[in-house]
Formats: sequence, structure tokens, C-alpha cells
Amino acid sequence: MNIIGISGSLRQASFNSLLLKAAAEVAKNQGAVFEIFDLSELPLYNSDLDGDVKPAAVSRLLAAITQADGIFFATPEYNYSIPGVLKNAIDWASRPAYQSVLAGKPSGIVSASMSPLGGARAQVHLRDVLAGTLTPVLLSPDYLLPLAQQAFDSSGVLCDSKAQERLSRYVASYIAWASQH
Ligand SMILES: Cc1cc2nc3c(=O)[nH]c(=O)nc-3n(C[C@H](O)[C@H](O)[C@H](O)COP(=O)(O)O)c2cc1C
Repeated sequence: MNIIGISGSLRQASFNSLLLKAAAEVAKNQGAVFEIFDLSELPLYNSDLDGDVKPAAVSRLLAAITQADGIFFATPEYNYSIPGVLKNAIDWASRPAYQSVLAGKPSGIVSASMSPLGGARAQVHLRDVLAGTLTPVLLSPDYLLPLAQQAFDSSGVLCDSKAQERLSRYVASYIAWASQH
């Protein structure tokens, strides 16, 4: 299986990007490849640019989603929702409405936050946004990483063993479910 991994944070030392890398490691041991797509070059959505010829970064995103068997999101919570960077990427990928590359693509969601809530509100919003694009999301116990600043070691490895164990279970459920699509 080939999964596109998307982090909603552009920050160099992003906990969500580290979490995505940890998920990719788990997936590799289960025979799935996560290709991580960097959102930093996407322009802001503009219908005027969304014609037959699209900005190069947008074309790369659409091709990566089309070729992937599924999408795995790691999202921060910004002001009780998902970051604009992630919403913008979904907006680009969402046209034509209900028939886009997102429609029917099995998706997983994890979140990391420095707060004790772990990005729960962002996850709820992301599910809502994906419902508008007909993107199915794994129904499973949610994967949230609260107090993310304490969960990684100085080299960026997820060193909280319980969080790692829960991540392994979530990724295994996701791969099993996505492979049935
Ligand atoms: C603009 C902004 C808004 C934020 N709002 C929230 C929030 O509503 N809830 C929350 O748990 N954390 C919030 N945070 C803190 C983030 O959870 C924290 O910065 C986290 O590390 C961001 O993810 P990243 O490490 O992947 O970049 C906010 C951070 C920023 C920069």
C-alpha cells in the first residue's frame, strides 16, 4: 500500500510532522509505504488559478493523492480548528465537488498538541471538512497526542512508550481498513 502522509504544520520541528514520521515507521513494518507530502509550496486557493493548468505544487498534490491508496493526516489544533495550511490543501484537492481525488479515499487522522486535549477539537473539525469532500475517515478510537512537548526525545523520536503503543494500534487499524477499499 502507498499512503500519502500530510502534516498540517509547516514548522521545522513540528510535533505533528514527527508524529507522522513515527506513523510511517510503524506502517513500514506492516508493509505500507507513507510518502510524506510537504504543503509549504501550495499557493492560497484561488478559483482563477484552478483551471486546466494548475500551479505546479497543486498538480503534484493532486497526482500524489490520485496515486495513493489512502491519506494519513497529522494535524495541529489552531484556535480550536485545523490550520489554514491544511484547509487550503483540502480546498485545492476538493474540486470538482464530490468527484475530486479525495472522494472515497480512505483517511486516517492523528493529532499532536501541547495542550492536555491533544487536538481533539481540530480532529472533529477535520472530520467535518472531509465529510464535505466525501472522504471516508477511519472510525476507531481516536489517536490524540497531548503534551506533545514531553513525548519526543531530543532527536525527535516518539519516546513515550504508551503513545507509541497506541500509535501502532491506530496505524494497524488504519492499514487493515484502508486495504479493504
Ligand atoms: C496560531 C496557533 C493557535 C493555536 N491554537 C491552539 C488550540 O486551539 N488548541 C491547542 O491545543 N493548541 C493550540 N496551539 C498550540 C499548538 O498545539 C502547538 O503549537 C503545537 O505544537 C503545534 O503543532 P506543531 O508542533 O505540529 O507545529 C496553537 C498554536 C498556534 C501557533
